[in-house]
Order: sequence, then C-alpha cells, then structure tokens
Amino acid sequence: MKRYLPDWLENAIFYQIYPQSYYDTNADGIGDLPGITQKLDYVQSLGCNAIWLNPCFESPFQDAGYDISDFYKVASRYGTNADLKRLFAQARRRGIRVVLDLVAGHTSIEHPWFKESSRPERNKYSDWFIWTSDWITNGYPAVRTIGGYAQRNAQFMINFFYSQPALNYGFIDPSAPWQMPIDAPGPRAVRAELKKIMRFWLDMGCDGFRVDCAPACIKAQTREKMFASQNDLWQDVHDMLSREYPESVLVAEWFNPAQAVEAGFHVDFPRDNGVDMGLDHVIGRHHTNSCKTYFAKSGDGDACRFFDAYFQQEPALKGRGYVAFYTGNHDNYRMSLGKDKRMQEMVFAMVLTLPGVPFIYYGDEIGMRYLDVPTKEGGYTRTGCRTPMQWSAKRNAGFSDAPAKSLYLPIDPRADRPTVAAQEDDPLSLLNTVRALTSLRRNSKALSARGEFRALHLRACAYPLVYLRRWRHERYIIALNPCRDAAKVSLETKAVYGSRRADADEMSDGIRLERLNGFGADITRRGSKLIVEMRGCSYGIFRA
Ligand code: GLC
Ligand code: CA
Repeated sequence: MKRYLPDWLENAIFYQIYPQSYYDTNADGIGDLPGITQKLDYVQSLGCNAIWLNPCFESPFQDAGYDISDFYKVASRYGTNADLKRLFAQARRRGIRVVLDLVAGHTSIEHPWFKESSRPERNKYSDWFIWTSDWITNGYPAVRTIGGYAQRNAQFMINFFYSQPALNYGFIDPSAPWQMPIDAPGPRAVRAELKKIMRFWLDMGCDGFRVDCAPACIKAQTREKMFASQNDLWQDVHDMLSREYPESVLVAEWFNPAQAVEAGFHVDFPRDNGVDMGLDHVIGRHHTNSCKTYFAKSGDGDACRFFDAYFQQEPALKGRGYVAFYTGNHDNYRMSLGKDKRMQEMVFAMVLTLPGVPFIYYGDEIGMRYLDVPTKEGGYTRTGCRTPMQWSAKRNAGFSDAPAKSLYLPIDPRADRPTVAAQEDDPLSLLNTVRALTSLRRNSKALSARGEFRALHLRACAYPLVYLRRWRHERYIIALNPCRDAAKVSLETKAVYGSRRADADEMSDGIRLERLNGFGADITRRGSKLIVEMRGCSYGIFRA
C-alpha cells in the first residue's frame, strides 16, 4: 500500500460540532447546517481550522443519528444537501476543513436496505447484513444478534443498540456457514457501497471522515481478533483516497492509534476505555476512585499510565499518522465536570501543546457544564454533554428563538451559565485563553503535530508534569501542576538543549525563561540546572 498523510494535518486544530446543539436558524429548536455556516467566523476566531461534524444524515434518531436511514441525504431537521455543500464552500473560504462522520459499521433498522434484507425472499440486500442460519440460532459468543424481529427465518447481528444492524463486511475467520468470508459477493457489495458514499460527499466538498466503529467492520470470533483484522478493508479505502482524494483524511474511532494507523487511518484517539492509554486518567472527565484524574487538586492522579502507553505507540505512528488528544466528545462527561476555570485552562494548555492533532469539543472552550438531563435519542448518561451551545444572554442563551420547551435539549438553567458573549471581551476568560493557546500553536513548528515531544519530568503518581516540544532551535517547556501543593523540580539543561552548548550558554545564571502563557510558574537557570518552581494549581508555557 502506498501511504499518504495530508500535510494540512500538521497544523490542524479540530473543533467538534454536534449539529443539533450548535445554532438554530429556523426556530424549530434544533441546531441546523445554516446555523453552523453562520458561526464559521466564530470557529475561525477560536483558531480552529478543521471541523468534525457529528452525523447529519436521514435517521429515525434512535441513537442521535448514528442510525442512518439514507447515507446520501442530509436529515431534513438539519437542512438539505445544498446547505451542506454551502457549509463546505464557506468553510473552505476561511481555511477550515470539514470532516463528516461516516457510520461505516451499521445502518438504522429503518434503512430500506435492511428492510429488504429482512424479507424471507432472497433479494439484492439479503447478504448486506449478517444473518444467522435460522430464527433460533444466535451468534453468541462472537457476535450479538437479535431474534424475532423479521419475517426472515434468522437472527441479525447488531453493533450497538438493537436498532443498529451490522453491515456485512464478512468474517476474517468464518466458523459457521452463515459467516461469510470477506471476499464473498455480499461483503464485496457493501464495501463498494461504502466507497460510493465516501466519493459522494468528497465530490461535494468534504475533507474526509471520522469513521464510527472503525475497528468493528470486518467481524471475527473474538473482539481482539476483530480489532486486529481490519487492514484489508481500510487499506483498500486508504488506497482509493490516496489515488482520488489525496488531501482527504481518515480519522478513526478506534482508541488504539498504532493499530488504526497500521490499518490505514491518519488519526486516532488515545485509548479511553482501558487502563493502558486511558485519557480519562489524565483529563478525568469523571473523577472517581477507579479513575483518578491528573487534573485534580488532590494530586492523586498518575500521568504515567497514559504517557507510557503513548510512548509505546509513538514509533508506529512516525510519518504515518497522529494521536488526537481531545478535550471531550459527545460520548463523555464534559471536561469541566469537577474542575474550576484554572483547572480547565490547564487541560487546554496540555491538549494544545501535545503532539498530534488536538480536538476541542464544542462548548468546552467556554467551560460549558455537564447537565443532569433526561436521556434523549439514546444518549443516556451521554446526554448531559450534548446540550445547546450557549452563545449569549439572549433567550435560550442565543441558541434558538423557539419556545424553551421545544428545544432539542434544555439549556443550562443557572444564572451564571458561561456564554461566548460574556467571555468575548474579558481577556482572562477561558475562551480567550483558548484563543491564545491555539494561536501559539498555529504559529509554531515546535508545537505542531510533528514537533519533537520529550518528557522532562514524568514520574508515577508525581507532580508536576514537565515536557519539551522542539523543532530545531525553537523550544518550549510546558509545566503543569494541577495539584494544590507547591512543587519544585530541577532539570538538567542538557535534557533541554542536548549537546548544543551554544544555546544553553546563551543563558546566564539566574535568568528566567520567558513565560508565554500560564500563572504561578517560573523556570530559572542555575548552573547546569533549570529550576522549575510552581505554586499549587499553576502552569506555564515557556520559551526555552
Ligand atoms: C460511536 C459513537 C457513538 C454511537 C456509537 C454507535 O461510539 O461515537 O455516539 O452511539 O458509535 O454508532
Ligand atoms: Ca433548526
């Protein structure tokens, strides 16, 4: 496979937009595509140059649009295909790329393909989904199946909810006659259709896809085997893109960057559900006894759990792909949960100074809260992070002119709810700190996706966390001390400047490094050491 990696990713900062909750332009209470287009100047003002848009296609919305009933049509509640095309064009004019959500693994139970497939008579779609041999045979333990739903004398496989039947990309290790090999006609047809969907939106102007459930398309007898068995599919897709759309990106929802990049993706998120690379152990969107965030004043988090896994995976990514560090997403608690403003600033300072491709979840930039709201469209505990964007002090926080009761989800009722308008003119607001951080990153090669990244102080269960970002002579030291206790560590100047004595010698004794962002943190040169002194809950980004 001939590899390609689009250049623009090197300086990309993504902003994730949940379309139903961003901005409503026709007062039906639901965010829409024209609303996003209207807010592109705001996205640009954040310093973001790429958008990941959650699914916006026809759907009965039993999983908020991750259950698609027409892959070629924008859901009417969001607008039309023409609106999406306009969004692509307007974004492009501002240098913003738009990446769509590609729900590759399944359809909605309402999709006409599935309805056809459910019929007892053999037809074009019979093998597009995974059906067992008869109504009583289930797929356990390899796959989850549903019986009793269709006229067809078989059970069908699902990926997530009962309403999300798995498309048939075949089995890598078929062990029953109903499990088809990946090159059987049904799986071949599904794969061809997937490419057709991708070409359709790429031709209209999108810049790539975030692929939902990417490691679960080709099936296998065990989950481990399945995750390791996707190369045939995604390398094939990668090949097609490299030939036909060499600027487009493939972002995985895999949570195993080394495996995803090997399979053909350019970007993947660090593992979030296991202990290995658990981002929750660093950012801790939900601080519990079993998940202790590093960003807690109690200082009982452990950044090593996360970074050890990152450093293990990093060699596999070199020149081929990136890890995407993110502030949050639509499947998590909000990052702000349990964190004050300073702590949130620290999270942004880290996410925006790590290598790879940063993703900001809409609303995190103003510190929107995780709300305790009833479940909506299969959101359950995820619903609280999906509430409408808070723009201003106007009615419905400026999100919509609809009556409050017809809003997609309720708005944070508190009088002091954060809004863009309130933070716009305050130079010290979270919003403006985020802007300062994105601007620092966008203007620096060292802080870009590919700049060198080296830990300077990273110890099990210890504070602070200090690391270096470098590109040739450009160097930054980032020091984070979320713990309430003050901390002091000394670094060897060698560790920062290597053998380049000239750079190190330029600094005379007692000189303080220039702090570009942060508060309560200083670094001073003493002989062959750099002394990092940090107050409790402080951070600094220093030019070194
Ligand atoms: C992914 C999506 C999630 C969805 C699921 C099923 O995990 O992020 O929101 O419910 O896939 O499609
Ligand atoms: Ca609307």
